[in-house]
Amino acid sequence: MISKSNFVSGLFGLIILTITIQSCKKDEPEPAKGIDLQLYEMAQETAGFTWYKNSDALLDKSSGSGHNYPLLRTRYNSTAATQLDSDGKVSANASFPEGSFVVKELTNNDGSIGLYAILYKKSDSEHADDRGWVWGYIYPNGDVATSAVDKGAICTGCHLQSESIDYMLMNKFFP
Ligand code: HEC
Repeated sequence: MISKSNFVSGLFGLIILTITIQSCKKDEPEPAKGIDLQLYEMAQETAGFTWYKNSDALLDKSSGSGHNYPLLRTRYNSTAATQLDSDGKVSANASFPEGSFVVKELTNNDGSIGLYAILYKKSDSEHADDRGWVWGYIYPNGDVATSAVDKGAICTGCHLQSESIDYMLMNKFFP
């Protein structure tokens, strides 16, 4: 038989558990939808991409990186790759055409991808910033780290630093 005091403390525990689950939920990232889902699906595609410096090797993150993963590598879709030189670096006066899609894979030490950082040139998107770029930040399971709806508010300041080329920073930090 369940005693009254056991019942009360059990009920109390259940209430605490429910409150804890509810408050944890609030901080959890949301699954991508709309523009973020579109960017996520495009980032999953790897066929037809060219790697920075023509190499898929994982690079140690640079001192200037605003991204919290130890390793990274960056790839360009065929439209964006028109702005790479024969060494696979961004050309000095590059201006990326519409449809350019650049993905930085932020990677853990075990080689698994931790986060996709995305730049997509799509001037006619309602989510493009005033230079025509849409900014994506999405986990590999499809959850959103920072929505493109924010128009790169937390990204652009750093990406406009000296020696950036049409926002691109790989050349500066991986010369
Ligand atoms: C504090 C500076 C900083 C902030 C903030 C930052 N980045 Fe970066 N980003 C870098 C640096 C430095 C690189 C060069 C590679 C590296 O070391 O990570 C880079 C590289 C990239 C690249 C590869 C293309 C290139 O050459 O730049 C993409 C795409 C990118 N970032 C997207 C984003 C997005 C999206 C955000 C915002 C959610 C963001 N970044 C915020 C510093 C920053």
